Parts: sequence; C-alpha cells; structure tokens
Amino acid sequence: MNTLSLSARAGLLKPSPTLAITSKANAMKAEGIDVVSFGAGEPDFNTPQPICDAAIEAINQGFTKYTPSAGIPALRKAISEKLSRENGLTYSNDQIIVSCGAKHSVYNTVQVLIDPGDEVILIAPYWMTYADQILLAGGVPVIVQASAENGFVPDYDQLKAAVSSKTKAILVNSPSNPTGAVLPRETLKEIAALALRHDLWIISDEIYEHLIYDGEKHTALASLGSDVYDRTITINGCSKSYAMTGWRVGYAAAPLAVAKAMSNFQDQVTSNPTSFAQRGAVIALGLPATSMEAMRVEFEARRDLIHQLLTAIPGVKMLKPKGAFYAFPDISAYLGPDLKSDVDLATYLLDEAKVAVVPGSVFQGFGHIRLSYATSRADIEKGVARIAEALSKRIA
Ligand SMILES: Cc1ncc(COP(=O)(O)O)c(C=O)c1O
Repeated sequence: MNTLSLSARAGLLKPSPTLAITSKANAMKAEGIDVVSFGAGEPDFNTPQPICDAAIEAINQGFTKYTPSAGIPALRKAISEKLSRENGLTYSNDQIIVSCGAKHSVYNTVQVLIDPGDEVILIAPYWMTYADQILLAGGVPVIVQASAENGFVPDYDQLKAAVSSKTKAILVNSPSNPTGAVLPRETLKEIAALALRHDLWIISDEIYEHLIYDGEKHTALASLGSDVYDRTITINGCSKSYAMTGWRVGYAAAPLAVAKAMSNFQDQVTSNPTSFAQRGAVIALGLPATSMEAMRVEFEARRDLIHQLLTAIPGVKMLKPKGAFYAFPDISAYLGPDLKSDVDLATYLLDEAKVAVVPGSVFQGFGHIRLSYATSRADIEKGVARIAEALSKRIA
C-alpha cells in the first residue's frame, strides 16, 4: 500500500479546461503571438484612487498587523450600512463576516452548512467553483438546467423536482456568471417559497449586483421577507463592483448563528483578510452608488457591441445579457465530427483565430463559449472578427 497517498478530497478536483486554455494562451503570448483574450473574470479598470490612498495610508501608519478574524469593526459597519442603504437590509456587525474574497465567503458558507451527503441545488449554467466547493464539503450538487430559450431562468417545476429529503440548500447567483442572466423578482420569490416550504438554506451570491443593464433593478434575495432573511446567506464583495479583484475582500451577511460559525471557522483557517486591504474596502463601501457608474456604462456599451458582433455571425445564437460582464453565445451550430464539443471549439479558436475563450461546458453550459467583455472595445472588435473568420471556414 502506498502510505504517501493524497487524500480522497484532493482527487475530487479535476484539472480545469479553462486553465489548460489559459496556459496555452499565455505560452503563445510569451512567444510573441498576438492573442486576444476573453478569459478574464475581472474589470479592466483601475481601483479608484481614494481606495488605494486609504490602503497606502494604512500601511504607512503601521496598520499591518493581525485584525479581528471576521474583519475590522469599521469595515463590518460600512458593509452593514451598505446593505441598509442599497438593499434595505438590517444586519448587525456580528452578522457580517469579511473574508479573502467572495470565493472564500462561499467556501466558509458551504463548510458551515453542508454535511457529507447533503444536496445543494445549483442552477446551471453556474460558476464552476460552487460545485467544487460543495464536493469538497462532501455535499452533492444537484443541477437544475436552465435553458437559453427561457433566458437561463429556471422554472418552478424544475426547481421543485430537484428537491429531495436530502436537500439542504439552494444556491442562487444573479446577475449570473457565466450567462449574465438576471433572475426576475418573481423567480426569486419562487425560490424563496420553495426554500420556506422545504426548510432549505438560500445562498445568494450577489457579487455582480452593481453591473446590471437596461434599467434592471437588483433584488437582494434576503429582502423578500423576514422568514426569507432568516434562512439566507448573502455573499458579496469588492472585486467586481470596485475593480478590486486583487485586494481579496469579500463578505457574507448571515443569520447570527451562521455568522458565528463562519467566524469560528475562519479563525482556524485563514484568520483575517489583509489588514490594509480592509481599510481600502471601508472607503469603497462608503462611495456613493454613482461613483462606479462610468465603469457600468462602459460595460453596457461593450455588452451591446459584443452582442451585435457575435449575433451577426451566421448560426451563432446569443441572449443579450442583463448583467455581469460575460457573453455566453451558443456555438453548437459549428460542432461536428472533428470538433465534437465546446472544449474542442475553444481550442480551435485559440489555434486558428488566436482568440482565448472559456468553453461553456466548464459551467455546465454545453455548446456555448464564454467571452468576458471586461476588455477594450478595440479588442472586442478584433477578437470577434477573428472568431467570425475562423468559424466561416466551417459550415454553419
Ligand atoms: C459569481 C462569482 N462569485 C464570486 C466570485 C469571486 O469573487 P472574489 O474575487 O471576491 O473572490 C466570482 C469571480 O469570478 C464570481 O464570478
């Protein structure tokens, strides 16, 4: 017997096709090849200067030591005020746990709610991290496939059919990565009703809440009633709204017992998020809602541009996303015996067109590809023209 084996848990995570494509794209770039990359899940804007200044000042003042694990009081207060001001939600500081990015907040949440064998309902296409984190906790992701025809909005019967005696939670992400779908308020109410009827937790990842278009309004799931609030863990963070991906500041707002468990958990795993990053986040959370409006407006214009260019390619079908910064076109018309899957097609686009995209199957969105439009309009035009050219060599 090999006594030096790894844990079974380590074997749960499979190498991701995204990483394979990204490392190939990077290797091509290193060789001097002009690759257009639509892979990045982060704004191409700089963090606003006042946020940077606050962090620099914090370092210069020696604010470089451990802080309370769950975050500095000033930041928990700023988050509580943001939730009240923007979402109509009341949370005490104790109900807010600041973590090293929203990804970490989701991880903590799953770890304190899910036991081995518990089922968690995921609405596909979904951000792949959710499924992997559920598996790491020994949980079982149960997938509800939302169709492009329905705007990637699941219907109630589908959701109901996914509930079993083992269901512990339902995870919602609106606006969505990768589809850009914004779930209608009615659907959120149906999800809430289902959770109430079957006594489920709701994990609501609202990280793209500020990146929303066409005058759509974000609804915080926890705001749908006090009984919903009592079973909802809201996940959010600074990465996408304030162009702060590298700062690693995310948070969860939760019922007190959940928040306490997350705080204890974080105590033993990471301790606090970076001290001076938290000082920057205090400034970010206090900025008026209009302060990042120029970024949102630019993303909306790019969304229009990429939608127009992609849907002009024969055979490519695409919904106009209502939020986030991803296009998720259906390219299945271009699959065939030689390119059998979206992974093959993404590889073909990289080799043939020198364009990096993420295969849709990574998100359980088969026959699609994901393009992040958090990149310049010039790159959007150049990259989509190259895709059109490469696809034109195949029969649509
Ligand atoms: C839906 C969703 N939630 C959470 C995150 C993670 O954000 P953070 O940088 O705060 O960890 C991402 C990042 O891509 C995301 O797409």
